[in-house]
Amino acid sequence: MSEWQKSTWRQKPRVQMPEYTNADALSAVESQLSKYPPLVFAGEARRLKQHLGAAGRGEAFLLQGGDCAESFDQFSADAIRDTFKVMLQMAMVLTYGAKVPVIKVGRMAGQFAKPRSAPTETVNGVELPSYRGDIINDLAFTEASRTPDPKRMLQAYTQAAATLNLIRAFSTGGYADVNQVHAWTLGFTEGEKAESYREMAKRITDTLDFMKAAGINNDTAHTLQSVEFYTSHEGLLLEYEEALTRLDSTSGKWLAGSGHMLWIGDRTRQPDGAHVEFCSGVQNPIGLKCGPTTTADDLKVLMAKLNPENEEGRLTLIARFGAGKAGEHLPRLIKAVKEEGAKVTWVCDPMHGNTIKSSTGYKTRPFESVLREVRDFFATHTAEGTIPGGVHFEMTGQDVTECTGGVRAVTDEDLSDRYHTACDPRLNASQSLELAFLVAEEVSQLRARTSERQAG
Ligand code: PEP
Ligand code: CO
Repeated sequence: MSEWQKSTWRQKPRVQMPEYTNADALSAVESQLSKYPPLVFAGEARRLKQHLGAAGRGEAFLLQGGDCAESFDQFSADAIRDTFKVMLQMAMVLTYGAKVPVIKVGRMAGQFAKPRSAPTETVNGVELPSYRGDIINDLAFTEASRTPDPKRMLQAYTQAAATLNLIRAFSTGGYADVNQVHAWTLGFTEGEKAESYREMAKRITDTLDFMKAAGINNDTAHTLQSVEFYTSHEGLLLEYEEALTRLDSTSGKWLAGSGHMLWIGDRTRQPDGAHVEFCSGVQNPIGLKCGPTTTADDLKVLMAKLNPENEEGRLTLIARFGAGKAGEHLPRLIKAVKEEGAKVTWVCDPMHGNTIKSSTGYKTRPFESVLREVRDFFATHTAEGTIPGGVHFEMTGQDVTECTGGVRAVTDEDLSDRYHTACDPRLNASQSLELAFLVAEEVSQLRARTSERQAG
């Protein structure tokens, strides 16, 4: 077997990547990007890996969330702030329920490239290439817009850098103070229908009051006013990923410099394909989507390729089967992991198996199905004696109407009001926070059952 290099993926079969027609323009962009600074540093990626390892052991819990696809058009400081803010609120509620640190990872600052179910789209008899995310082409339905343009990678890099810069400022500049985050959440629980969440919010208030009284405050505990926030995206557009890959002088290992964590999508996880090849050689924590068609044999090969040293936190398996289907598919994959003695972190993505067409024609996801898949995932792990290590959501801090349901119920008829996603429907701020309360309840019950069993 020849040695891994950041370009060896080019010798493997690739799927879901654009065919750039102008090779000179492409190589000009690649050479420019390869001179730009990486967005993240190796020490950060290693630290995230340690945290994810803890989540695999049940000593931490992952909250991964953000846009399905970041967009050039909707790029704004407010949108970044609002998603960051709701993720902190969710993390606080989850910390309370899980009683372990919550690892915050945004689908942000690089989540631009999209796999599609069909290579082309036909509207009124006109067939054009599918939209593949703003880093590749444009959503507008014209020939020029849909033609892949390598220069878009430079704009994506710039947007990712600016997004990450703002996130870093929010994380350490006082915006993330626990008391402030909790005050925002109290606003949500004041709602008439949010009554069931008031009790937990009240208990969090009591805890914070106790900490203050005991002298644990911002002056004594730096962690109360700053957070660690990491970035992630699907490592799909490999020309972009390769150009930002750098050798880390501390470890002598390669680092994908485009984000802290990369994941491999359900459509690009071929064991001998280009995406697995690329991800196998970088030291970042790697996510692997597992869907209904993932076989136990494939998973075994993938675990061996992606984590040959069986390092904790290196591999996160992101289960996305659909509501009611975890019981059918998850046990065979859990068994494969057990048979290999593999160290993995199990996470639930309850979004991608639950996309439906609403009665009004919009692509949507019912809140109930999202919640049900999370519950199935927890129940299956409980039955198998394994550990559910986190959740992965498509969500935004904006008040959009893209998923149906929740306490501030969005109906099929409401979907047209504020349907802004460039790709899949996202939970809005209220639905995201509500889900965090429900997942927190689920995790805290699970912990109670586990400790009862251990005591008995
Ligand atoms: C996604 O996470 O946006 C995605 C396309 O997921 P999957 O590969 O699981 O379908
Ligand atoms: Co999506």
